[in-house]
Amino acid sequence: MHNIKEIAQFTQQLATEAGELLLKAYQEQSGANNAKRTSPKEMKLVEDATIDEWLVQKILETYPTHSILAEESGEHKKGTDVLWIIDPIDGSVNFSVQNPFVAISLAVVINGELTIGVIEAPVLQEQFIAVKGKGAKLNKKEIHVSQTKKLSDAYLVSCEGGAKDRTAVLERIIVNYFDQVKDVRKLGSAALECAWVASGRADAYVTIEIDPWDVAAGILIVQEAGGKVTTFDNEAWEPKRADIICSNGLLHDELMSLL
Ligand code: IPD
Ligand code: CA
Ligand code: CA
Repeated sequence: MHNIKEIAQFTQQLATEAGELLLKAYQEQSGANNAKRTSPKEMKLVEDATIDEWLVQKILETYPTHSILAEESGEHKKGTDVLWIIDPIDGSVNFSVQNPFVAISLAVVINGELTIGVIEAPVLQEQFIAVKGKGAKLNKKEIHVSQTKKLSDAYLVSCEGGAKDRTAVLERIIVNYFDQVKDVRKLGSAALECAWVASGRADAYVTIEIDPWDVAAGILIVQEAGGKVTTFDNEAWEPKRADIICSNGLLHDELMSLL
C-alpha cells in the first residue's frame, strides 16, 4: 500500500521548489539566452534539461523504486506500480518571450490510476493540486469548473500539440468550433489550459495531439474540479492517447459531437 497523503505532500513541496528554480531562471532569462528552436513553433531551453534532471534526482532519492516518464530524459523504468509523468517546463516558448504562462507539471499514476496532479505556475504564483477523490485546489482553495451550459457562451482553449501538420490540426479546431463558441484561445501551455478549465477560467480544452507529460496532471485536476475528460471517441484517457476533451461536463457531449 502506498501512502498517498505522504506522496502528495512530497509532490507539492517538490513542485514549490522546482517553481523557485524556474522563477529564478525566468527572471534572469538565463534559459532564453541559451534556447534552441527545435521546430518553428517549439523551443528547448537549458532549464528544460536542468529542471528535468533535478526533478528526476529528487524523486528517485526519496522513492528509488518509482518509475518516471519525463519529457526531457525519457523513461526511468523501475518496474513498480508507481509512475511519475513530468514536464519540467510547459510553455518554453512563453518563457523565452517573458510570457508568464509557464508551468511545471507533475503527475503520479498508481496502479494505472491518475492519483496525484500538481501544476506549478511560479510566475503567476499559482499552484493547482488534485488528489484522486479529494477535490482540486488552487493555492489551497477549492476550485470548480464553470457552470456554462450553452456553447455560444463558452470559452475554449486549445493547442495543436506536437502534431506534424499543425495547420491541419488547428484548422479542424477552428472549422468545428470557432463559430459555435464565444472564443477559441491558445495559452501556449497545455498544462495551464487544463488548469484554466478546472478553475472555470475557460469552459473546455480540446487538443488533437498531445503528449502525456503536457496533460497528465491537468486531467486529474479537471476531473477533481468536477469536470469531464475523455478521448474523442469517449474513452477514458490513458498516457498513449493524444486526443482529449476536458470540459466542465455540461458542454462535453456537444463538443464531442461537433468534432
Ligand atoms: C508545449 C505546450 C504547448 C503545446 C505543445 C507543447 P513545451 O509544451 O504545452 O501549449 O501546444 O505541444 O509541446 O514544449 O513548452 O513543454
Ligand atoms: Ca509541455
Ligand atoms: Ca516541456
